[in-house]
Amino acid sequence: MTETRIGFALTGSFCTFEKAFAQMELLSDKGYAVTPIMSENAYTTDTRFGKASDWIERAERVTGQKVIHTIAQTEPIGPRKLLDLLIIAPCTGNTLGKLAAGIYDTAPTLAVKSHRRNGGPVLIAVSTNDALESSASSIGRLMGRRGMFFVPFEQDDYRGKPTSCVADFEKILPAAQAALEGRQLQPVIF
Ligand SMILES: Cc1cc2nc3c(=O)[nH]c(=O)nc-3n(C[C@H](O)[C@H](O)[C@H](O)COP(=O)(O)O)c2cc1C
Repeated sequence: MTETRIGFALTGSFCTFEKAFAQMELLSDKGYAVTPIMSENAYTTDTRFGKASDWIERAERVTGQKVIHTIAQTEPIGPRKLLDLLIIAPCTGNTLGKLAAGIYDTAPTLAVKSHRRNGGPVLIAVSTNDALESSASSIGRLMGRRGMFFVPFEQDDYRGKPTSCVADFEKILPAAQAALEGRQLQPVIF
């Protein structure tokens, strides 16, 4: 049996990187061939949650592959049919907005366009404080689009941050298995 190939794209929700990397590790341990992808912001920004060079080194160690972070590196994904599934985890409000509007000027967003060229499934793990504000329309538009699936998400702090939503990163594996079968894991909002 051939290996299932998964692109794992990280965008700049730095506070969820630790949780995202745990799932990248799990997917690799389960035998998936994981290709790490990072937005330019994720690839270059040091924050209080960690240094960019450390995240890059960890992604390359876990997957055994160099991190894709430019549009030139991303473009062949579609033409060469390089992936079976593309995961964006975490997915920022910025990236949600771009995808909803058809803007493809980062490695993760162009990966979506390139992968969708072949009709491949895309799985999104939302993590943004404006999920129920300006990003609500982006999420709604993407949910109605063919081939787009969501990792189940919740309001993570409805008192302190009433418009914030975060995916349950531990559901990435079952959500990925469902997306590979063309199904949305339910309940998508819990
Ligand atoms: C420390 C830090 C934490 C951030 N956390 C988030 C977040 O959780 N969700 C989000 O949508 N944006 C967050 N941002 C803002 C994004 O990084 C910013 O909108 C950026 O343009 C996203 O670009 P990208 O989607 O191409 O990675 C954060 C920024 C910083 C510096």
